[in-house]
Amino acid sequence: MTSIQTSRLSGKVALVTGGASGIGKAVCERFAAEGAKVVVADLDGERCTGLAKAIGPDVWGVALDVTSQESIDAAVRFSLEAAGQIDILVNAAGIYEVQSILEISRERTARVFEVNIEGVIFMTQAVARHMVERAEGGRIINFSSQAGRRGEGPAVAYCASKAAVISITQSCALELIRYGINVNAIAPGVVDTPMWDVVDAKLGSREGLQPGEVKRRVAAAVPAGRFGRPEEQAAMAAFLAGPDAAYIVAQCYNVDGGNVMG
Ligand SMILES: NC(=O)c1ccc[n+]([C@@H]2O[C@H](COP(=O)([O-])OP(=O)(O)OC[C@H]3O[C@@H](n4cnc5c(N)ncnc54)[C@H](O)[C@@H]3O)[C@@H](O)[C@H]2O)c1
Repeated sequence: MTSIQTSRLSGKVALVTGGASGIGKAVCERFAAEGAKVVVADLDGERCTGLAKAIGPDVWGVALDVTSQESIDAAVRFSLEAAGQIDILVNAAGIYEVQSILEISRERTARVFEVNIEGVIFMTQAVARHMVERAEGGRIINFSSQAGRRGEGPAVAYCASKAAVISITQSCALELIRYGINVNAIAPGVVDTPMWDVVDAKLGSREGLQPGEVKRRVAAAVPAGRFGRPEEQAAMAAFLAGPDAAYIVAQCYNVDGGNVMG
C-alpha cells in the first residue's frame, strides 16, 4: 500500500475495472490511501475480494467481465449496494494482443475491440446513467495508450482500440459535462505490469530474443531511460479524480517518461 495519506478523495466512491492487476491495482491502492471507498472489479472475483481486504476497510471486490452486460449491471448494482453511490469510474481493464497485420484474424480483432472498446463504452454507460440520475456529478477516467497516439507493430488491433479510447473519451466528455461529469483519459507509455511481461514474452519469442530483452530495449528508448511504475499512473488518476481537476474535460494526458511530446 502506498504511504501517501491525504483526504483528497474522502467521501467519494470509486469503481475500478481491471483493478486486480498492474495499473488498476495501483489506482485502487492510491484512491483508498486518499480517502476514497473503492470497488476492485476484475475477472477473478475471489482475487478482487482478497486484494480489497489487503488494501483496507471500505474496499470491496467484485467479479466483472466488461464484455458481458449482465456482469456490468451486476457489478454496478453491487457497488451501489456496498457503498451507496459511485462518484468515480476508472476504466483500466484491457488486453494486449501481439498480432501482425499479415496474420491477424477477425476473431482476435473482435475480442480486443470487445474488451478495450465496447468494455469502456458500456461500463461508462452503466455508471453514467447512475451519475446522471444521482445528479452529483462524477469523474470518469479511461486508460488509452501511446499506442493509440502512434501505431506500433505488430499490434494493429490493440493500437486501434487505444485510439478509439481517446475518441470515446472526447465524445462522452462532451455529452456528460453538462451533468457535471468530467471524462478524461491517461495515455501511459510503457509501464512495468503483468501486461508487459506478456508483451515481452510474445514479442521476444517472435524475434528470437531472451526473456526480458524486449523490455530492456524498450526501456532504453524511453527519454526517461526506464519503464514507468503503476503508481505513477495512479498519481495522475488521483489528480483527475480530485477537486483540482474540475475544469479538465475531454483531455488525454501522457504519462510516459517523454515518449511522446505535446
Ligand atoms: N502496462 C503498460 O505499459 C500500458 C501502457 C499503455 C496503456 N496501458 C493500459 O492500461 C490498462 C491497464 O494495463 P496493465 O498494464 O495494468 O494490464 P494488466 O494486464 O496488468 O491488467 C489488466 C487487467 O484487466 C483485466 N481484464 C482483462 N479483460 C477483462 C474483462 N473482460 N473484464 C474485466 N477485466 C478484464 C485483467 O484481468 C487484468 O487484471 C490497460 O487498459 C492497458 O491497455 C498499459
